[in-house]
Amino acid sequence: MPDIDEIRALVQPGRVHRRVYTDPDIFALEMARIFERCWIYVGHESQIARPGDFIRAPVGRHDILVVRGDDGAIVGLHNRCAHRGAQIVSAHDGSAETFDCPYHGWVYGRDGRLVSVPGREDYGARAASDGGEGGLQRVPAVAAYRGFVFVRLCEDGPDLAAYLAPIADSIDNFVDRSPSGEVEYGGSRFRQLFHGNWKLSVENGIDAAHAAFVHRSSAAAAKAWERDRGGFGENAEQIIAQIKSNDIPPQRWHDLAVHGLRNGHGHLGGFYREGKLAPQPDDPVFRAYRRDLAARHGAARAGEILALDRFNSVVYPNLTINIRFQVLRQVQPVAVDRSIVHAVCFRLKGAPEEMFRASVRCLNAFNSPASLISQDDLAVFRRAQDGVRSGADPWIDFSRGAGIDYDVEDGKRGSSGASEVLHRAQYEMWQSLMTAA
Ligand code: FES
Repeated sequence: MPDIDEIRALVQPGRVHRRVYTDPDIFALEMARIFERCWIYVGHESQIARPGDFIRAPVGRHDILVVRGDDGAIVGLHNRCAHRGAQIVSAHDGSAETFDCPYHGWVYGRDGRLVSVPGREDYGARAASDGGEGGLQRVPAVAAYRGFVFVRLCEDGPDLAAYLAPIADSIDNFVDRSPSGEVEYGGSRFRQLFHGNWKLSVENGIDAAHAAFVHRSSAAAAKAWERDRGGFGENAEQIIAQIKSNDIPPQRWHDLAVHGLRNGHGHLGGFYREGKLAPQPDDPVFRAYRRDLAARHGAARAGEILALDRFNSVVYPNLTINIRFQVLRQVQPVAVDRSIVHAVCFRLKGAPEEMFRASVRCLNAFNSPASLISQDDLAVFRRAQDGVRSGADPWIDFSRGAGIDYDVEDGKRGSSGASEVLHRAQYEMWQSLMTAA
């Protein structure tokens, strides 16, 4: 395994060594030191509204169940039988009276306590009594922020509010856009396996410069459709606008705003100024929605909420939030060169149903396996992964825009879409976590 000094040397001003994308030992350390130490998003409270509802979530090297208990509290349990370690639950989510091991029939309660063992007298002390050490191992820290549930697998660390503080205004804005003050899970998700390191996906969502090149062909197709008016079907206008929005030539990068924040979080904004992607002020659905939002918050505050112009916000290490269309994208590391992207959308409770349909269209346009945009990205991730593995130069450049970055406050650094300031902030956090004791 690489030692601390070796790891520290992999991140240098404006560049990182290719081993951060290609070395299986580095990947193993990332699971232990990043994914098993940071707060990791696992789901939303609306997915586990009733006792027994559960979500299964991979966190680092672990398979975790997040369960709503009989007392209404949320607990995190390792999805691993206390007998011989078999996986208890294989579904991604669901509802259960008990968790029954498929191997030799040990049964666990919703709180993870061992409640029955077939042939108990033939087992040792571990199975001798209900509860006790025969139960499912508990996750040390489970907490929710505005309904979004996170787990932390190590005992020590900042509480969730402190960890999220630099990016909390993005999460707040996501929820504050609801006229009822609540959002609700949209009901299903896309999962896509790609050939590439997990960081490629996290870096991509806040990389304004890639869009004009990676998405050139899909943007050209959208423009051609606009010219010829053929065949994208119902509600095509929004989808076309979203695909076309990727046509961001270098002269427009400076119109965008990027911020790298403490803890590796950050956001990319400035996309909606032209009003092409967001609903138009004269759209009747948007007018009705804005009226409902003003009824909750007052007109001035509703205006402030809707004026926040952020495209993607990153909650380090692996969550990307699109506030405007209520879409979340989560990257699950599988191996040093294999990852899964999960994408879901949310409903603004109390908003017109058409607002939710717009979220679903956004999810489809950007994140479905049939999306022109996501296939563009996954293809270039593969080429990036293959390229860094085979290149003669071992260094990956992240210096773009370093000269135009500026300090804001509290570790916050700002820049334009021409800068990789947020990528640099992520690697500062990466280096800090990977070299911590
Ligand atoms: Fe679960 Fe044996 S492994 S009961």
